[in-house]
Amino acid sequence: MSERILGIETSCDDTGVAIFDKRKGLLAHRLASQVDLHQPYGGVVPELAARDHIRTVLPLIKKVMVESETMAEDIDAVAYTAGPGLAGALLVGASIGRSLACAWEVPAVGVHHMEGHLLAPMLETPAPEFPFLALLVSGGHTMLVDVEGVGQYRLLGESLDDAVGEAFDKTAKALGLGYPGGPAIARVAEKGYPERFKLPRPMTDRPGLDFSFSGLKTAVITTIQQCETLDEQTVADVAVAFQDAVVDTLTIKCRRALQETGRDTLVVSGGVSANAQLRKKLSELGEIENVNVFYPRPEFCTDNGAMIAYTGSVRLNENISTELGFDVFPRWSLMDLPPIE
Ligand code: KG4
Ligand code: ZN
Repeated sequence: MSERILGIETSCDDTGVAIFDKRKGLLAHRLASQVDLHQPYGGVVPELAARDHIRTVLPLIKKVMVESETMAEDIDAVAYTAGPGLAGALLVGASIGRSLACAWEVPAVGVHHMEGHLLAPMLETPAPEFPFLALLVSGGHTMLVDVEGVGQYRLLGESLDDAVGEAFDKTAKALGLGYPGGPAIARVAEKGYPERFKLPRPMTDRPGLDFSFSGLKTAVITTIQQCETLDEQTVADVAVAFQDAVVDTLTIKCRRALQETGRDTLVVSGGVSANAQLRKKLSELGEIENVNVFYPRPEFCTDNGAMIAYTGSVRLNENISTELGFDVFPRWSLMDLPPIE
């Protein structure tokens, strides 16, 4: 029975590693952000991301092993993100994870990045219990999922165009706030007047649980063009109007999904779930609807190795291969995952 798992996350612009022990919990985790590397380009450059993962991942693994007093022979399995994500970046984590597993003669398990986000709140105390409704909001995905158990997922709604994190990033760029956009918008929004601009709450006036954020982004750009100057206060006012529109839209859809499914637990995860205003509004919704709301701690909302190590521990008996050949899956639906026995 495997107990101690090394997790490696390299799907985008963060190198995350962690050691999770089935009996003792999370023993160590480390993150190396590539923000400074990509900042001059205003977004993630895939080739640079992959090269930086190569430089960073092994020293980071060494650090978590030292910190958790883990020797190579103490590791029972290696989990790595197999997709979805940037192909070159994924290949770094996959090949290093596979090579270590081969050298240590332990199984390697390829983890679905969004299942990692979905299960990240399981690392907290108290952890949510199945079944629950999940809102997954990241840079690449916006999904409402009804979750019966691990791998028992029913997609209730998703974005038809931009993911919500992507909308944050594009809006930040239009406002000259740089990358990554989410935290930058949240920061300046604190100084904004929410009444100055009114932006749409897309797709909330019709039934259904799908989302669309590209129109909101266009509304932001039109609003900016209509302003005479884009001074600091105007930037803050647009930022708060955008954030409020997104938070309202997500809250309305969550309420609708809770009412439709009758679930009494809501799990919110992915990079955008670090947003303080979103957490506040969803917690208020929880009180109104008598629903318990769970989030990961802020550092585990965005990409990290801990969620991959944890998900690897849950999926350990499958997705396993000791073969030397392997693949990554840049596009991979969460709905394709099998239930665990
Ligand atoms: O989960 P994540 O780290 O990577 C993906 O799987 O995509 O999510 C990154 C996204 C980015 O779009 C980033 O702008 C957004 O999460 N984000 C936030 C905040 N922190 C990160 N959006 C809003 N508010 C935040 N505080
Ligand atoms: Zn992610």
